[in-house]
Amino acid sequence: MKQTKIAVLVSGGGTNLQALLDAQAAGTLHRGRIVLVISDRPGAFALKRAEKSGVPGLEISKKACGGQAAFEQKLTEALEDHGADLIILAGFLSILSADFTRAWDHRILNIHPSLIPSFCGAGFYGLKVHEAALARGVKVTGATVHYVNEIPDGGEIIAQKAVEILPGDTPEILQRRVMEQAEWILLPQAAETVSALLADR
Ligand code: GAR
Repeated sequence: MKQTKIAVLVSGGGTNLQALLDAQAAGTLHRGRIVLVISDRPGAFALKRAEKSGVPGLEISKKACGGQAAFEQKLTEALEDHGADLIILAGFLSILSADFTRAWDHRILNIHPSLIPSFCGAGFYGLKVHEAALARGVKVTGATVHYVNEIPDGGEIIAQKAVEILPGDTPEILQRRVMEQAEWILLPQAAETVSALLADR
């Protein structure tokens, strides 16, 4: 059986990466295999998770590279070195250029912690998304997995899951509920579906 080689790009704690690694260990992610984890932030805890699972990890920082073009060149080299066919952005906070996303058309997935098109686009990431949802007073939020194109959070939607907002929610409490009830379920499922699509092509 052909497997799609997955590179996961991260910036922080890596709980979504962990959900992917756990799905792989449990066999629910089996049409794809995580071959590389890349962090754009030095010392991201996500790299420790990769190491613990025996997956190669790399740090590639835009600042150290000296700009977007050099950063993406390094990313491309690392992805090619590891034979990656699919990129999963799991809490990855750098924006990728139109040239890069075009080169990987329908081969980059992102998880976003809201029901797109609400609370998404430039400036909406991490806790800020949940702060905005609470400030607007919506009663339902959720998570979205989508393909990545040149528009931040603008690519084709693959899967969404709704999560209730409850009285007394803080951004932190809501973030955790969205992760537990939506992100950590949706992302491994979408990774399996798209890996199978690519592997069977
Ligand atoms: C997750 O909630 C993810 O959806 C979000 O950042 C968090 C990363 O957590 N991503 C975005 O906001 C992208 N716009 P993690 O490092 O524990 O997976």
